[in-house]
Amino acid sequence: MDDRALTLLLRLIHILAGVFWAGSVRETGPEGGRVMSHLVGRRRLPVFIGIAILLTVVSGLIMYGRMAAATHGTWTGTAPGIAYGLGGLAAILGAVVGMGVSGAAARRMAAIGQRAAEAGRPSPEQQAQIQGLQRRMMLGARIAAGLIAVAVVAMATARYL
Ligand code: HEM
Repeated sequence: MDDRALTLLLRLIHILAGVFWAGSVRETGPEGGRVMSHLVGRRRLPVFIGIAILLTVVSGLIMYGRMAAATHGTWTGTAPGIAYGLGGLAAILGAVVGMGVSGAAARRMAAIGQRAAEAGRPSPEQQAQIQGLQRRMMLGARIAAGLIAVAVVAMATARYL
């Protein structure tokens, strides 16, 4: 594959996956409101989001590395280079918070929900646990959404800085 075709492919993967990821934040994030029904009814969504995050981050890092290598590092110090770098960092932090805080809380909540369903109804402790986890999930989703918004603004403007 020649250089131009590889650049186009990386950009396509990056932008398609990035748009899907950023779009999914609203679905499962604070404004979603239907988080529980997503967890219960559409278990494949978190898998697709995970794949989109991986593709976005890997293609972004490769593009960043290629631009840095082509300019022997000088590009990383230019205004666009700094903006892509900071935007990428915000996106990666958003992924860590999203998966580490919200995703982990959602998985624990689903496990508790499963046990409660098996027992017929949730015990008072389970109800309290679910409420705490729900708060943690919402907080994580809010922070992740903010970081991803920073990334999107940086990516959208970097080229023209
Ligand atoms: C929420 C996640 C992300 C979204 C929605 C996103 C979106 C975009 C978009 C739309 C562009 C095209 C900008 C333009 O051509 O003017 C772009 C370019 C770029 N992104 Fe991201 N991005 C994300 C995460 C990342 C990450 C984690 C990195 C890793 C460092 C990264 C690195 C880059 C680089 C280096 C380019 C420039 C590519 C080029 O001009 O050929 N991005 N991104």
